[in-house]
Amino acid sequence: MLDYDLEAAHYDQTRGGVARARAAADAVLELLPADCAVLVDVACGTGIVSELLTAPGRTVIGVDPAAAMLALAQPRLGGGRVVRGDATRLPLATGSVDAVTFMWLLHLVDEALVASAIAEAARVLRPGGMMITTVDKNAAQYETDSDVGEILRLARRELAPPASDDVERVGELAAAVGLQPAGLAGYVGHGQGRSPREWARRVREDIAWTRGADPARVAEICRALEALPEQEVRRADPVYKVAGFRLGGD
Ligand SMILES: C[S@@+](CC[C@H](N)C(=O)[O-])C[C@H]1O[C@@H](n2cnc3c(N)ncnc32)[C@H](O)[C@@H]1O
Repeated sequence: MLDYDLEAAHYDQTRGGVARARAAADAVLELLPADCAVLVDVACGTGIVSELLTAPGRTVIGVDPAAAMLALAQPRLGGGRVVRGDATRLPLATGSVDAVTFMWLLHLVDEALVASAIAEAARVLRPGGMMITTVDKNAAQYETDSDVGEILRLARRELAPPASDDVERVGELAAAVGLQPAGLAGYVGHGQGRSPREWARRVREDIAWTRGADPARVAEICRALEALPEQEVRRADPVYKVAGFRLGGD
């Protein structure tokens, strides 16, 4: 994982800024009951999404282990609403919150941490409370609705390790702690669609799951990308998924 203390200074402008945050927050708000009074945004980062989840009568608490990210979240959420902490040990009482959000966290960590974080979300939620999380994050980024997306879908299936935020696996882990599916929403990663030439460059130089792969196979994928028409034309933007789960016993 990246060192988010080092990322903090340029995080917002390199991750789509307010446009990305607005789209992500709108997807969460689509699933979140309007009467949600206490929401904890776990892995809140700079708070750019968390701030947009606030509403009259609702307290949003941001939790993140990276002090430099939290320093940017603090003015967005207000003093006392930003806490240094870890998804697996939330500094919150059992059954004390209406919603827990994980935006762009579960794809970054291993499955053991995903399981612990989901169990911890279930602990702090009141009965009937909602856990809302991004799922299949990398699949969305690579497997866009386009000709490049088709090539990268097959390549990932063959070369990439299983995703820790796979929607089905997240659903199983959630069910194990009493969280039942409660809706799916999506949001567009505006401006993140890439051209075939750019994807070929990334596959060659810049992607974790192609780095250790057979060079002949990587070259073949690049050739397929470079054989597509309109090499410089950006293809469809990714559509990211957000899944909601409700704690039984309402
Ligand atoms: C990609 S950023 C997402 C930030 C924010 N949710 C957003 O959408 O802009 C990932 C964040 O996860 C935080 N993080 C990493 N490991 C964590 C953990 N074990 N528990 C909670 N947060 C964690 C990082 O410090 C970082 O701020």
